[in-house]
Amino acid sequence: MLADKHILLVIAGGVAAYKCLDLIRRLREQGASVRCILTKGGSQFVTPLSVASLSGEKVYSDLFSLTDEAEMGHIRLSREADLVLVAPATADLVAKMAHGIADDLASTTLLATDKPVMIVPSMNVEMWDKPATQRNMATVERDGVLRIGPNSGDLACGEEGAGRLAEVDEIIDGIAGFFSAGTGPLAGKRALVTSGPTHEPIDPVRYIANRSSGKQGHAIAAALRRLGATTTLVTGPTNEADPWGVTVHHIETAEQMMLACTQALPADAAVCAAAVGDWRVATSAKNKIKKNGATPILELVENPDILAGLSVRNENRPQLVVGFAAETENVVAYAQQKRARKGCDWIVANDVSVGTGVMGGDHNKVHLITSNETTAWPTMNKIDVADKLAGLIALHLGAPTTKS
Ligand code: CTP
Repeated sequence: MLADKHILLVIAGGVAAYKCLDLIRRLREQGASVRCILTKGGSQFVTPLSVASLSGEKVYSDLFSLTDEAEMGHIRLSREADLVLVAPATADLVAKMAHGIADDLASTTLLATDKPVMIVPSMNVEMWDKPATQRNMATVERDGVLRIGPNSGDLACGEEGAGRLAEVDEIIDGIAGFFSAGTGPLAGKRALVTSGPTHEPIDPVRYIANRSSGKQGHAIAAALRRLGATTTLVTGPTNEADPWGVTVHHIETAEQMMLACTQALPADAAVCAAAVGDWRVATSAKNKIKKNGATPILELVENPDILAGLSVRNENRPQLVVGFAAETENVVAYAQQKRARKGCDWIVANDVSVGTGVMGGDHNKVHLITSNETTAWPTMNKIDVADKLAGLIALHLGAPTTKS
């Protein structure tokens, strides 16, 4: 996947630096050559020896080393790469990049490079949230730097929130996506994906939601992008990181999801994987509802059906509309009825009953239902389900006459 690509990896001083050892191994497995710059901070977390052993190359750290400069100056280091990858990208190093500061080998190389730069931030949540960091991130992104993550979750410092280094798989995926941009069977096609739950407000602090994790929808958006589609993901609140290279619209309610989807058209394919709240509270309260004796009775009204809306036969209809069916009994029969009722082309039926672990889990067992056949897929990782579905979508869009 990355054969003959030269990656210059800048390892800065963050606790997550240890993950770079695995990253180097995986990049080389994919065929890339990896040359590393280790900052002074980075060398507190990983040793030059382990980086050199895994990369199979000399490790560079010193701006003014006579040997380094004689063998390979910072200008050459920055020019011989196809991509400069900074992982972990610390708040400090990104601040230097944003301000053009060049006071060590890493920052000087980043300033001197004429190659694309991709950063993978990792830091404490408070550092990430600080206006200074956010300003610096916005500045480097405006300057053309690509970014992967950070993810949210448990942080090495014992706190929780945004700031986790993206997983090695996500970084590899982002790099592969960067090098394959504009290629792939879906190049030139547009895809729209919905994902996650919706939150339907009861009052400013309470809402109606469901257990959807967004894992399947996010994986589908990433898979379609990997095949070259220009992909838009409209997602409710989830803990999933935005897939790299995908345009992501974050929404809360079904009505907002509907609007964002309509605005994202035209698309060649739409995949509705979101677990859209079926009902919303007719009039959500402006202020927090107080417990003052009477138990409140919520009047619910039905939400717009996004899948059915996208399936209406008009000039805006995507060529292929795929829905999901979350069922707890009579999975195939109910899903077949749902396909007909909503007017979509395909439906992916999954059993979400308690005990299957599908809602929120990493695996899925689905049936793909088209107009003329129902196929049972084996239990698979949600990423593999996404890849298989994206492959079939690519086949379908590549062969318009086979429309089912
Ligand atoms: N869907 C949608 N908008 C809604 C409800 C559902 O786009 N307001 C989509 C989902 O994204 C999914 C499909 O419709 O692709 C089926 O969702 P599901 O929850 O299985 O079915 P419902 O339509 O909610 O029907 P029911 O709850 O009666 O099974």
